Amino acid sequence: MKRAAVIGSPVAHSKSPLIHGAWLKQYGIHGGYTRVEVQPDALPAFLDRIRGGEFVGCNVTMPLKAHIARHVDEVLPAARVLGSVNTVWRGDAGRLIATSTDGEGFVGHLDLAAPGWRDGDGGVLVLGAGGAARAIVDALLRTGAGDIAVTNRTVARADELAALFAGKVAVKDWVGRGSNLGATSLLINTTSLGMTGQPPLEMPLDGLAGNAIVADIVYAPLKTNLLAEAEARGLQAVDGLGMLLHQAVPGFERFFGVRPQVHDELRDIVLGAGS
Ligand code: ATR
Repeated sequence: MKRAAVIGSPVAHSKSPLIHGAWLKQYGIHGGYTRVEVQPDALPAFLDRIRGGEFVGCNVTMPLKAHIARHVDEVLPAARVLGSVNTVWRGDAGRLIATSTDGEGFVGHLDLAAPGWRDGDGGVLVLGAGGAARAIVDALLRTGAGDIAVTNRTVARADELAALFAGKVAVKDWVGRGSNLGATSLLINTTSLGMTGQPPLEMPLDGLAGNAIVADIVYAPLKTNLLAEAEARGLQAVDGLGMLLHQAVPGFERFFGVRPQVHDELRDIVLGAGS
């Protein structure tokens, strides 16, 4: 039986077992997916269990995401640029390979939820400059999207992000984030603002063109104020749950050999489990 796991500390909150468990059942795969509590000092020992064949791979949550790279044999570019890993699997001859699937998950969901997103003649404005923003900018650039701007409360972090993607990302002033939106065709919130328990995101949308798309990576609540406001203006709204589900697709495929579909039932399963 193939076994995979999500590792970290704490892991109790992770939705990964729900997602992978539902796919294992759906595809009739004789496999298992569990949570394993792993602290940083126990990480090398856990990774040896993958090398040895006890597990086919794992997903990685806090606080291990930044620690994994130095313990594996190959880090793919998506994780190298972030300095953060969320998926590890055993390749040929027990070699461990690590990547981050967050950016791919975001674009995978966007492709399904707003298939025309590449056709807009405006640019992309990313709110936030943390790990999620980096992953999304990296994935957007890989798909050939151009004209990307980032805005962040802490300017130094926005500058750091822009420097990572030398010359391809502009930095916009945070205070003036709602101005000059006429040339933005895709607006993405990657900050934690608007999440349950966090301050609201204040983002005026009146400057956006009528065919603009607004995406949020926050999924608790599922319909954030930003998305509700976008819908009220007749704009296309893309929620954050899809990214969570789609980021699991490449891992499941590596672990169990089947590329799974994200479907509404899966959304219901994860939503039903609460946040
Ligand atoms: P992640 O890895 O999930 O992206 P992160 O690195 O902690 O998480 O990034 C959180 C993002 O939310 C950052 O862009 C952060 O802005 P700062 O870099 O200025 O901290 C943004 N954020 C969080 N709380 C915020 C607030 N109250 N106002 C504005 N931005 C906020």
